[in-house]
Amino acid sequence: MKHFDITFKPDNRQISIHAGATLLEAAGQAGIILNTVCGGKGICKKCEAILEPDGQKVLACQYRIENDLTVTIPAGSRFFEQKILAEGIDTKAQIQCDIYEKYLPIQPEAEIFGAAVDIGTTTVVAKLINMADGQCLATRGALNPQSRYGDDVISRIAYGETDAKLAKLKKIITDCINDLVAGLCKQTTIDIKQIFEVCAVGNTTMNHIFLKLPVKQLGQAPYKAYSLDAKDTPAGDIGLRINPAGNIHTVANIAGFVGSDTTSVALATGIDSAEEVTLVVDIGTNGELVLGTADKLYAASCAAGPALEGARINCGSRAVEGAIEAVVANEDDIVLDVIGNSPAHSICGSGLLDAVAVLLDLGIVDSTGRFAKPETMKNKLAPAIFSRIIEQDGQPAFLLDEVQKVILTQKDIRQVQLAKSAIRAGIILLERKLGIGDDDIRQIFLAGAFGNYIRRESALRIGLLPDVPAERIHSVGNAACSGAQMMLVSRRCREEAKELARKIEYVEIAHEPDFQTEFTNCMSF
Ligand code: FES
Repeated sequence: MKHFDITFKPDNRQISIHAGATLLEAAGQAGIILNTVCGGKGICKKCEAILEPDGQKVLACQYRIENDLTVTIPAGSRFFEQKILAEGIDTKAQIQCDIYEKYLPIQPEAEIFGAAVDIGTTTVVAKLINMADGQCLATRGALNPQSRYGDDVISRIAYGETDAKLAKLKKIITDCINDLVAGLCKQTTIDIKQIFEVCAVGNTTMNHIFLKLPVKQLGQAPYKAYSLDAKDTPAGDIGLRINPAGNIHTVANIAGFVGSDTTSVALATGIDSAEEVTLVVDIGTNGELVLGTADKLYAASCAAGPALEGARINCGSRAVEGAIEAVVANEDDIVLDVIGNSPAHSICGSGLLDAVAVLLDLGIVDSTGRFAKPETMKNKLAPAIFSRIIEQDGQPAFLLDEVQKVILTQKDIRQVQLAKSAIRAGIILLERKLGIGDDDIRQIFLAGAFGNYIRRESALRIGLLPDVPAERIHSVGNAACSGAQMMLVSRRCREEAKELARKIEYVEIAHEPDFQTEFTNCMSF
């Protein structure tokens, strides 16, 4: 088959690729990951590339290569390196490290190490652990390179429908974990042959892809997992380059849309032994919820959409450099906090929640989510704040940053309403299952990157979370990785996780009779 040379600017990377491949595939081969919000369907227009020398703009996912090319990939089309949340909770539990004992006969003299891995849809985090004492020696993170086939699990499921493409996705994630583990070994001067055990968690789709289990059924009602079971697989069968005698432990999933990462978060937060009602919220593209006490636990997944991660927001982005991550109002004006202290060019989820909370407090947006008429606000606002109320395409909007014109539109507010309503309605329906109300929730754990960076007050102000005193809300960081670390070293933790996944009752929120009513009720602020 004919091949063509492609040069990517400004990186100056060169690859050779077969005729008919898309520019998106070529960029991926060159290690350049593009935004692919629609999964390469040509709808989102986030993957724009510029053909040189004539400057023609094309969509990388749609453009087929038929000759040698020089292509510029603009910054706006790149899936930037984002903040990767590596730190989790210190579980403080007395964990008995006993898994390493099975390797003593083959490794009697040297130390035995393992890796705890959290395979997120967007990011992958790996921790190098001393198996004898559970101590973490180093942590590394990377963007999940599967992102080039779509930003969410639905696009990955759609891509992984055939055996060949599923194998491709599996290889991509295996390579990524191999790179992370090799990097950890290099950083700590540990021989890769001393790594004997890996414990990997992820949502059900990531778990299935990693194990090369069919994913097609995850994309169709009733969204069944092919397997919910915890598994132990020889390292060689998975393709992970650790000691050939090593083992890969994958943790039990709860349901098609609630995976082993949630099992792991539940384990790390100790919700299975909680005497008081505890809510765990992990917000990503989906919001995963676990609510209950040691006696009864329910879990659900809410289709919050990617708005809280900055997608489908006019000036939205992930938590990357230049993203507004916090907004506060003072008497005269608003103050922005921008990641990397650089000029603002976008707004990420935490900033978005703050901004909406500020607009509500100032009365610029009312409880239905509608912008107030500017003429009614003139005497109520400081002049600097009032001057930020503008019109964009005939719609009211709020100017956050003048230089790069970072604005919040009426449509953005609607997206936030949809996302928060999906999560809030999910919580209410789980509360109903347990026969409790908001007041009964004694502690809320916010897991994951979003939960770590949002301000509790803003989440409460917009009604994303139950109305409880702010001090009951705790961020627990990358609790999925903390749980994986516990299960990596301890037999008992593995057994507890299996039991937890079996015990947590999954609720299909969208099928609950009150779902539509609650969803509509929760739309208002
Ligand atoms: S248009 Fe969405 S990925 Fe290309």
